[in-house]
Amino acid sequence: AKRPAGVPETAPRQVGKVGIVGAGLMASQLAMVFAQHLQVPVVMTDVDDARVAKGLDFVSSQVEKLQTKGRLSADQAAGLKSLVTGSTDKSVYADADFIIEAVFEEIGVKKQVFAELEEIVPAETILATNTSSLSVTEMAADLRHPERVIGFHFFNPVAVMPLIEIARTPQTADEPIATAFDLAARLRKTPVLTTDSAAFVVNRILLRLMAEVQKAFDEGTDAATADQALRPIGLPMTPFTLLAMVGIPVAQHVTESLHAAFGERFHVSDNLQRLIEAGVTEIWSTDEDGRPYIKEETLAL
Ligand code: 3HC
Repeated sequence: AKRPAGVPETAPRQVGKVGIVGAGLMASQLAMVFAQHLQVPVVMTDVDDARVAKGLDFVSSQVEKLQTKGRLSADQAAGLKSLVTGSTDKSVYADADFIIEAVFEEIGVKKQVFAELEEIVPAETILATNTSSLSVTEMAADLRHPERVIGFHFFNPVAVMPLIEIARTPQTADEPIATAFDLAARLRKTPVLTTDSAAFVVNRILLRLMAEVQKAFDEGTDAATADQALRPIGLPMTPFTLLAMVGIPVAQHVTESLHAAFGERFHVSDNLQRLIEAGVTEIWSTDEDGRPYIKEETLAL
């Protein structure tokens, strides 16, 4: 196949073990797809046992769904489950070849994770970030080996969204980029190479729409009306449903990064900020027929 523009000719690194930092919404989905398609050991860590257990439970439930659909035999399902393990101790990453972090979307937290990893892993281990909007260059800036750091950005739901944005910083060496393209192909995803600019390519465009809808929300259009109105224009998922899936705090952080980079084109919603501060993380519920409706407590805010 023709090599996409900008992809180095360097041979990819063979990845025999994958590390996932975090066990939350994105991290657990990542663990699933890496184990399923690479068939190599995948280890997840998080700050406490409960979070690790929740991530592992998610993987088990996904594996069981595939088994129920007849896509995996009982043996294959058991094999897949046994590939994914969890821990609260980052030393489990010592022999991983590729580690991707999917922790809280905050630059200080991500820099801390990479600094800790650098104390544990050899110089050539690839460190990837699933950040949506933070600077990969800044995440790598204080490391001894910033040339091993890349952006490797998946979309939610990971199992079905086809794209991966691979972000290269001015420091990134060729081998991590070549490896990222090889991994994306093995994960059956479509990789695109982007520069390390705020929110890469997709979210920069998607968030223009989302921010504009949220501005209308701030100006008095209720969420249910906005979603209903936008349904016929061919969006696979209407804005507030998408927001509920991505998670309001995550979406708000992405918009804030874009606001910082590009100004008022990316409106940060006061209403969403109020919801976050009130602890509302889900806007929608579904009725008995599976139709989504906006929750009373959301409307009351
Ligand atoms: N996990 C695993 N599989 C899922 C899934 C999930 N969460 N959601 C759907 N699927 C699977 C279904 O099981 C089904 O598989 P099957 O055909 O093997 O049975 C298949 O996907 C299709 O499901 P549906 O029939 O429910 O299909 P829909 O037509 O409703 O499509 C969708 C579902 C693909 C999720 C579609 O609604 C969609 O594309 N939504 C938009 C998602 C999007 O824009 N994501 C990007 C968010 S931004 C982001 O992630 C960036 C972040 O950094 C902020």
